[in-house]
Amino acid sequence: MSNLRAAWDWRSERGLFEDRSAVRVFHGPGEGLADLQYFAVDRFNDHYWVTQWDHPSLTAARITTQRQVIVDFLRSRGAQSVVGLDRPQRGVAPQAEVWWGEAPSDPITVREGSVHFLIRLRETRHPGLFLDHRPLREWLMVRARGWRVLNTFSYTGSLSVAAALGGAASVTTLDLSKPSIQWARENFKLNGLPEGESEQGNSIVNKFIAGDVFEWLPRLRKSNTLFDCVILDPPSFSHGKGSHGKKGNFSTAKDLTELHQLALSILAPKGFLVTSINSANIPWQKFESDLLTAAKEINCELQVLRMIDLPETFPTRLGRGADRYLKGWILRRV
Ligand SMILES: C[S@@+](CC[C@H](N)C(=O)[O-])C[C@H]1O[C@@H](n2cnc3c(N)ncnc32)[C@H](O)[C@@H]1O
Repeated sequence: MSNLRAAWDWRSERGLFEDRSAVRVFHGPGEGLADLQYFAVDRFNDHYWVTQWDHPSLTAARITTQRQVIVDFLRSRGAQSVVGLDRPQRGVAPQAEVWWGEAPSDPITVREGSVHFLIRLRETRHPGLFLDHRPLREWLMVRARGWRVLNTFSYTGSLSVAAALGGAASVTTLDLSKPSIQWARENFKLNGLPEGESEQGNSIVNKFIAGDVFEWLPRLRKSNTLFDCVILDPPSFSHGKGSHGKKGNFSTAKDLTELHQLALSILAPKGFLVTSINSANIPWQKFESDLLTAAKEINCELQVLRMIDLPETFPTRLGRGADRYLKGWILRRV
């Protein structure tokens, strides 16, 4: 309980509950001792999403004890419900289950500053908002004015919403999953953002594509469509549609060079490439060398403007670099 309280208290003292209703309130790998290191807790209004990472030492009895500790603590902080997702070391996680309370079956709206996002807590493997990407959303909100943005692997479009609210001239949102694209559309509506043609009727302002990145990027290149900002945020593995010569399978271990070549081929001169992965098993060095190979092959020089790393609400322990799974760069083509 004291690990949870300490994590809550420093966030509260730093004002992290004031400007947002969605925040990681406990990150076990850096803030948990003993069994609690295998748990993380995210707050969505007064509903909580707990991630539990499987570990051989976590027996069923120990899991039950820790779940109770977490639920008791969150109830003492006014929780209305707690759902939990068990993340196995291999394979796909099942859906989240309700650990306590009345978790809403309809989507709820959460707030980050003045931006709103739809969150689903039931019958899903993920609530719909990656809290570790908040700094990137903030960066897009202050930088995207006037840009033509392509957000690939967009999921529920939170980075697209940030770019559109930041004044992007157009935002194209691309994801393989039709339900995610529909969710992204709902997030646009929730923030009063238009879809379709601009008032002049001559360009598409906000466009949504349910499709495979490895099919669409070559298609955009063929039609000479360029973007001022291309965002890449692939999962570690995915099974695409199969028509890009790799039987549809993508992995960050094998395919980062090809992915970056495609992205750079549609990046306008002086454009911005945002590239991020969440693969703990891919070291920075390999990520950088795959990106460099891609840039060299198409004769393009890139400046590093910023590194993408876990934010302060996801602390890890010094000496446990592998726990910092989120990696990436904001780059500028020169
Ligand atoms: C890590 S999530 C991206 C998170 C997102 N950037 C955000 O900030 O919310 C990965 C997404 O990539 C999508 N995806 C996986 N393979 C794909 C492919 N070949 N083409 C397009 N989207 C793909 C998945 O459907 C999933 O929504």
